[in-house]
Amino acid sequence: MHTDTAFTRRLGLPWPIVQGPFGGGLSSVSLVSAVNAAGGLGSFGVHHLHADQIMQVTRDLRAATAAPFALNLWIPLHDEAEHPVISDTQWDRAVRRLQPFFDELKLDLPARPKPSAVWPAYTQQIEALLEARPAVFSFVFGIPSPAILSRCQQLGIVTIGAATTPHEARLLEDAGVDMVVATGSDAGGHRVSFTDTPENLLTGTFSLIPQVRDAVRIPVIAAGGIADTRGVKAAMALGADAVQIGTAFLACEESNAGRPHQAALHAPGLPGTTLTRGFSGRLSRGLRNRLTIELAQAPEDILPYPWQNWLTGVLKRAAIAQDRADLMSLWSGQAVGLVRHQRVADLMQSLTGESPNRPDIHFVGHPTTRDYPTDITRQASLR
Ligand SMILES: Cc1cc2nc3c(=O)[nH]c(=O)nc-3n(C[C@H](O)[C@H](O)[C@H](O)COP(=O)(O)O)c2cc1C
Repeated sequence: MHTDTAFTRRLGLPWPIVQGPFGGGLSSVSLVSAVNAAGGLGSFGVHHLHADQIMQVTRDLRAATAAPFALNLWIPLHDEAEHPVISDTQWDRAVRRLQPFFDELKLDLPARPKPSAVWPAYTQQIEALLEARPAVFSFVFGIPSPAILSRCQQLGIVTIGAATTPHEARLLEDAGVDMVVATGSDAGGHRVSFTDTPENLLTGTFSLIPQVRDAVRIPVIAAGGIADTRGVKAAMALGADAVQIGTAFLACEESNAGRPHQAALHAPGLPGTTLTRGFSGRLSRGLRNRLTIELAQAPEDILPYPWQNWLTGVLKRAAIAQDRADLMSLWSGQAVGLVRHQRVADLMQSLTGESPNRPDIHFVGHPTTRDYPTDITRQASLR
């Protein structure tokens, strides 16, 4: 019975399945509550929200679901200032590069915003998150301070960090983080590395899982390129205690991805995915489209995060309204060709192979290290 993993035991969930958090407004209360209702862990990305908005989302989530859910934040990267300084010349060049698209959408060119409009204050976000006290705090791009982690421990909040290498996984474990998401480069959204430039850390999911499994004792959640039951079984056979799935949930109608984005994820004859800094200023994976192709021509005109993210966000709102998938960020992982389901209930049923109410059918999972002390000895010697 391998739904009985270190992950499901800790969180008291029927299935070792996490709906990956989506930042930038693509998470939704109905997505989280539908995943929770089907026995998975729903997650809500709040990195783009201010403190009062985080509190409101938490109230909305609690009104919609009694099950545990995760709130997710981005940790400020230590190698970037919180508000990277850009010159007016840089801003003008970036806007000029996108001007043909603004013109096509009949949009005025935006004025340069204040930093506070593009980047909510992390310290206030953290305070709000601790006050909201979700069952799970998941995060990417680093490790929260020891003080924050110890407050999570006092409050009984389970912490889940993301690693793109075994080394990052060990750093998270050594800091006292409870679980680690081993995030392969197949994954949709941002490459969440925090120890080196992400272009240097592109290990794929199915190479990464067993390396992270060997490197740490805490539960490992596999993310990237998993979209059906074969991927779930493969990840667990390689040592994962759970899986985190993004793209396949984003394609469900309960998510907050706009109509053109969801249609693109379901489209036959997809253009495939690419890694680009064009959408946001940070390296991320999405579907190739005019925007990624155009911005690849002039990487020097891409602003650092969060400026580029804000700029393409203006374009995106108009592109959604005008049904123009060619002019917006279409975040997606490499398993997009496996997207089949429009509804969370159907996706969860196909992932698990059964309704969670039927106890007789279970995943073929991998025993956790807790069940195998010899593995623990071996892993300890690797550290
Ligand atoms: C649109 C989009 C936004 C995402 N935003 C976040 C985020 O804010 N925080 C986070 O931890 N992961 C984020 N992710 C990563 C997902 O939670 C998940 O780990 C990833 O999508 C798994 O890979 P897959 O897309 O191949 O299933 C995002 C992914 C996508 C596609």
